[in-house]
Amino acid sequence: MSSPTITEISSFAVDVEEGLSKYPKQLPSKYFYDAIGDQLFQDIMAMPEYYLTNCEFEIFSEQRADILQAIGDAPFELIELGAGDGTKTKLLLEHFLREQADFTYRPIDISGNVLEQLMTACAQEFPELEVAAVEGDYIEALTQIHEEHNERRKVVLFLGGNIGNFPLAEAKKFLNQIATCMDAGDLLLTGFDLKKDPKVIQAAYDDPAGITASFNLNLLHRINRELGGDFDLDQFFHWETYNPLSGEARSYIVSRSEQKVNIDQLHLSVHFEAWEAIAVEVSAKYGERDITEMAQEVGFEIKTNFMDKRQYFMDSLWELKP
Ligand code: AVJ
Repeated sequence: MSSPTITEISSFAVDVEEGLSKYPKQLPSKYFYDAIGDQLFQDIMAMPEYYLTNCEFEIFSEQRADILQAIGDAPFELIELGAGDGTKTKLLLEHFLREQADFTYRPIDISGNVLEQLMTACAQEFPELEVAAVEGDYIEALTQIHEEHNERRKVVLFLGGNIGNFPLAEAKKFLNQIATCMDAGDLLLTGFDLKKDPKVIQAAYDDPAGITASFNLNLLHRINRELGGDFDLDQFFHWETYNPLSGEARSYIVSRSEQKVNIDQLHLSVHFEAWEAIAVEVSAKYGERDITEMAQEVGFEIKTNFMDKRQYFMDSLWELKP
């Protein structure tokens, strides 16, 4: 995600202009991930408080044989939405290859850079692995793969708790869109962060070292760098809430004072009242019942749920019903 493409820059400009002209203000969290944001997210994954990555790593390390067994023997296309750095997926790939499963790895990512790095890594580590990447928006790329009319079963991976970045209604809409790109009998493995002690969740998104704060505030830096903004970072701070009823962890950037921010390239001057907030990220947490109901509503049947020992995280394997 390090070197933004032209379309990325312009959609960033459009979304920033729109989000900061609204009341209440908002900025989409997908823009966290420029080169600096990617690095800060690596730092987050290495923090003791951020349990999500470690939980899914544990699930894959210890239950990958069961995961393959649940997928079954038939040849399949292993489609991953959001390729990332692939550390966790490699655990699966390694096991699947060792067991001589008949599959092709189809990573999808919006960033060609990310995909190229991933393909180089795969070629080195798994020379026997068949990789056919698709660059683009998840649904567009998935549609393209669907239109190949391949005989093989699709096994779609949506890992890491990324589903949590959608508010509940939008998550359902997104899963519905995925379902329209699948055939009956195809599988979807989604990583859900589970509801748990609110203290544990709060700490994961509001760490004492302030790494998450830097990660969120980098969004203002990015506006300064890429769009000629003049945000004074000392005049804003990161605020995190977890609502145990809705299961939503939400992060905000709050203005300490009344101030005006200019964004040159947008010819925009943004006024902030003292203590006015920008909504930036939702990280939804789910109960088992939330997951069951969601699967039903979007036309899937739950095959198997894989959880870590502490029951903090769930990779839920769903099969599309006829
Ligand atoms: C990458 C979306 C799973 O919501 O937990 C981490 C991003 N934000 N700390 C999450 C994130 C703040 C992360 N996901």
